[in-house]
Amino acid sequence: MDLPVARVEVVTGDITQLHVEAIVNAANTSLLGGGGVDGAIHRAAGPALLEHNRNLGGCQTGLAVVTPSFELQQRGVRHIIHAVGPVWSEKEDATQKLGNTHADVLLASCYHTTLGLCAENHIGTVAFPAISTGVYGFPKERAAKIAVAHTLGWLAEHDLPRRVIFCCYSDADANVYRKVIESRGRWMNQRTGSKP
Ligand code: APR
Repeated sequence: MDLPVARVEVVTGDITQLHVEAIVNAANTSLLGGGGVDGAIHRAAGPALLEHNRNLGGCQTGLAVVTPSFELQQRGVRHIIHAVGPVWSEKEDATQKLGNTHADVLLASCYHTTLGLCAENHIGTVAFPAISTGVYGFPKERAAKIAVAHTLGWLAEHDLPRRVIFCCYSDADANVYRKVIESRGRWMNQRTGSKP
């Protein structure tokens, strides 16, 4: 199996257009849709997704649930994983070390839970949006560091998912992820002693 950093990729675009086995939604606790990527995914999956989610009873912040992909099936997407990210409120302190705020812990849990659901559901390729960095206001670079650290950590221990795509909605956001991955990859190579 490739090194974890070789199994992640960053793209810019609309996550509903990707040809992957699962796409991750940045949902809210109701699971009944909203704006941003949530709105885009509900539009692409069609009204059956909302009907399905009405019976789920919602989802707690920091957790995720898997649903069918409905009309996205025709694009080869088998599942939608609805992850509920934290709101970055004014109570959060951005000067805190990474991982030390309540929101950091909840965002990390979103990635960990989602990757676990990929393994449980034999999902080989999954695309994440930048969870919580839109309406929920999570600082982009801090969120990218959490997303990358927990994803690379997971991939170092698990064969599934085989590939993870970070789907950003702008080149600027994608460059944040690329910078974080590059520095994280270098750190992991130093730690494992393997040459880049
Ligand atoms: N594809 C990929 N990324 C997208 C798309 C898309 N079609 N649309 C938006 N994004 C990006 C945003 O630019 C942002 O970087 O997804 C990231 C997450 O932004 P939001 O969708 O606003 O999600 P979030 O910040 O987690 O807030 C969730 O917003 O839409 C509501 O119902 C949702 O209440 C929930 C809240």
